[in-house]
Amino acid sequence: MEYSIESAPLDKLQYDCIIVGVYENQELSPFAQEIDRQTDGLITQTLARGDIEGKNSETLLLQLVPSDAYGFSRLLLVGLGKMQPLPARKYRKALSAAAKCCKDHALQSATCALADSDVKDRDWTWKTRQIVEMFEDACYQFTLLKSENIKKIKLAALQIVVPEEHHQAAEQGLQQGKAIADGISLAKELADLPGNICTPTYLAVQAGKLGDKHDQVSVYVLDEEDMEQLGMDALLSVSRGSRQPAKLITVEYRGAERGGKPVVLIGKGLTFDAGGISLKPSANMDEMKYDMCGGAAVLGCIAAAASLHLPINLVGLVPSSENLPDGDANKPGDIITSMLGKTIEILNTDAEGRLILCDTLTYAKKYDPEVVIDLATLTGACLVALGRIPSGLLGNDEQLCRDLQSAGDTACDTVWQLPLWEEYQELLKSNFADLANIGGRDAGTITAACFLSNFAEDYRWAHLDIAGTAWRTGKDKGATGRPVPLLMQYLLDRTNA
Ligand code: BES
Ligand code: MN
Ligand code: ZN
Repeated sequence: MEYSIESAPLDKLQYDCIIVGVYENQELSPFAQEIDRQTDGLITQTLARGDIEGKNSETLLLQLVPSDAYGFSRLLLVGLGKMQPLPARKYRKALSAAAKCCKDHALQSATCALADSDVKDRDWTWKTRQIVEMFEDACYQFTLLKSENIKKIKLAALQIVVPEEHHQAAEQGLQQGKAIADGISLAKELADLPGNICTPTYLAVQAGKLGDKHDQVSVYVLDEEDMEQLGMDALLSVSRGSRQPAKLITVEYRGAERGGKPVVLIGKGLTFDAGGISLKPSANMDEMKYDMCGGAAVLGCIAAAASLHLPINLVGLVPSSENLPDGDANKPGDIITSMLGKTIEILNTDAEGRLILCDTLTYAKKYDPEVVIDLATLTGACLVALGRIPSGLLGNDEQLCRDLQSAGDTACDTVWQLPLWEEYQELLKSNFADLANIGGRDAGTITAACFLSNFAEDYRWAHLDIAGTAWRTGKDKGATGRPVPLLMQYLLDRTNA
């Protein structure tokens, strides 16, 4: 979709449909007041009739407005709620409703005048960026593998109107929004692809394309032989149960000088998780194609950071494998030696994410990282604890955790911190090895993070468990692109600090 920022007075513009905000109690946003004057009270009359109350996310599309008289032929009223600074979440909800209405009515172009609503603690850059993110999200369609001619979403152009004095801030928001929305879409597309197409090798090829596209991005892929030489037996033990070779994808973005310590993002790239010999039940097992959402989000972030030319160094590491049952697969009770040298008793082969991540955490040391953040669809327990609203957050550095919390709040891609206390390490004791790979029924998300913490002792580290947030289940099944918004906000905050 094409986006542009416009600051000419509304009565000088020509457009197909204009989207304006209305509040409860028949109050109008500034742009709605302007349109109301221009149309001799069309909006006030509509509100007085009670056709729309102004409740948050209500929409009313007025068609066939005489365009020769007004310069536009459709008017979309969007309810914002009570007339007061809107919570950021409600602003996003209203945008999403507006985008959905444009989509449902197959509009080809629209003019969005919703950025003039007052949003609590948010500036014009943020408000504009959110318009782009929410419209792109609503218009995302996974059509690649449908052979029938399905109805394509038509919305091709969105003009965003802002007052002249905020033009520059809005332009900045537009640039950020486009880059981040593209990163989100990339993450969603890779994640929505099925396991028979999106294999570790496929992911590596897609990562390579980022290197072709951006001068500042270099991609190196370690294959199984390379990993063997590095002693990554934990990672390789998972891949042994599968015919697809594992890959460790490294994507380096250089936006700052050579010596600048990088932020390292590690994303779990399990392209299909059947559980291995500890086979999962078959209900909803298809959703385990999403077990690479962490890896997809890392690639989305690198793409967005490179598009924005962020002045930072960033490294993405994506350990990628399948987890399947096979004669050569890990067996419960097997003991392997990780790259770090710690031995691990595999009591459940379905706790494979931590096995591919632990060697990658060890590998990350070579980058002398500023911080390391891993993102992984790691535990079903995270869904039990937190549902699908925030991602789980744990880490060994309070400042890093606070920074991620704050970035999540700003981006409306929230996290909730769980304790990573020493006491929990008890649960990972093994009679036969240094560590067991599971901690029993209690505190599953915490013990998974505890396991990882043993491999992240040499740097500041945080772990995001995105099992509940990376995709939606049920009738709207599909990837969400989270936590790309959160991580991009974190990186933007860093560059502003
Ligand atoms: N990829 C799964 C976690 C998962 C499960 C994410 C369901 C989203 C929905 C992970 O590899 C896994 O299987 N974890 C096990 C760990 C257990 C064996 C300790 C789990 O959560 O059941
Ligand atoms: Mn598993
Ligand atoms: Zn898994």
